[in-house]
Amino acid sequence: MARLPASGAPADAAADAPGGDLATPPRVAPEPGRAWVAWRRAPFPVDWSKAFGRSAPLHLEVGFGDGRFTVRRALEAPHEDYVGLEVSTVSVQRALARIRRERVGNVRVAKVGAAVALRQLFAPHGLQSITVNFPDPWPKERHERHRLLRRPFFAMAASRLVAGGEIRLATDHPEYLAFARDEARADGRYELLERVPPTAVFETKYALKWREQGKPLHYQVFRLERPSDTHPAHLEAPATMPHAFLTGTFPDPDQLPSDAKRVEAYADAHVIVHEGAQVLGGRDRWLFRVTVDETELTQQLLVVAQRRESGEVIVRLERFGDPLITPAVRGAVHAVVEWLVEHAGFAVRERNY
Ligand SMILES: C[S@@+](CC[C@H](N)C(=O)[O-])C[C@H]1O[C@@H](n2cnc3c(N)ncnc32)[C@H](O)[C@@H]1O
Repeated sequence: MARLPASGAPADAAADAPGGDLATPPRVAPEPGRAWVAWRRAPFPVDWSKAFGRSAPLHLEVGFGDGRFTVRRALEAPHEDYVGLEVSTVSVQRALARIRRERVGNVRVAKVGAAVALRQLFAPHGLQSITVNFPDPWPKERHERHRLLRRPFFAMAASRLVAGGEIRLATDHPEYLAFARDEARADGRYELLERVPPTAVFETKYALKWREQGKPLHYQVFRLERPSDTHPAHLEAPATMPHAFLTGTFPDPDQLPSDAKRVEAYADAHVIVHEGAQVLGGRDRWLFRVTVDETELTQQLLVVAQRRESGEVIVRLERFGDPLITPAVRGAVHAVVEWLVEHAGFAVRERNY
């Protein structure tokens, strides 16, 4: 089987060790290296030819689990490039270990949810295919909104896939299959194809598990017939981190209302300021815990309010957690500013968000 040159450090005993579960922490941590994509710091869309060091047809796999399918497929097609997405840290660690162990050079992985990744990381018509093997089925009706292959996903894929590009779904779940078919038909741009899957599809970790339980496995291809000619925009790197300058005095925490939670609604998002807390030993520095909930992404943030030498107070986003600066994240700074105005009597001198 043809192999590309190894990526990153040579495989060693630690890298060869199997990943563990939470009780047995995995010995292989995600480390900077060629296979790991620090996507939050990348310009959007990612320049994949730079990331792979060559131009080749680009394929995406969502929810690669332990990465066995991704690696197998990449080894079988050394002239194509593969990007894998996962939300599970343990899965990312396992896949990275496998990539090092198998010395595969044409795979990159990122820890990021599919919806935000599909929009931000890929250029219009930059992908040949999207593989989704055994997605979480979310079987309860009230949880359907968590399913991946819903209409918004098909719509975004119609922008990011090439004409004739494919979404390939494997599932053990007939209701999910029917659901995805209905969503694709409702989108109207896909042809539904029945096809025998490559052997590796029904040999993923979950495929083997479901087969062992005697469940029938299904495979469905959605071929993009009419690619979208409008493209959801990518986020641009902001020139400055959002911030504001206020004048006023921090109150004694005891004087603040006990339930000062604040919720701000935006078009497709909302911001929740959960609480503010004075930093230990620092009367003039407060931290606010904020959730920003957007259609494609939920982020937990810290916003800091801190007195400067000039006497005024700066309110700004902390870099903690490497936040992605979306419009609603700017709203997080706004919400904290409004919180300080309302509950602590601050006045706003300047807003930069
Ligand atoms: C049932 S497992 C299947 C794993 C693997 N494809 C297999 O067949 O063995 C579903 C995987 O999808 C991942 N996942 C769930 N939602 C995701 C999302 N929005 N983006 C990326 N991965 C996701 C989960 O962490 C999990 O590893």
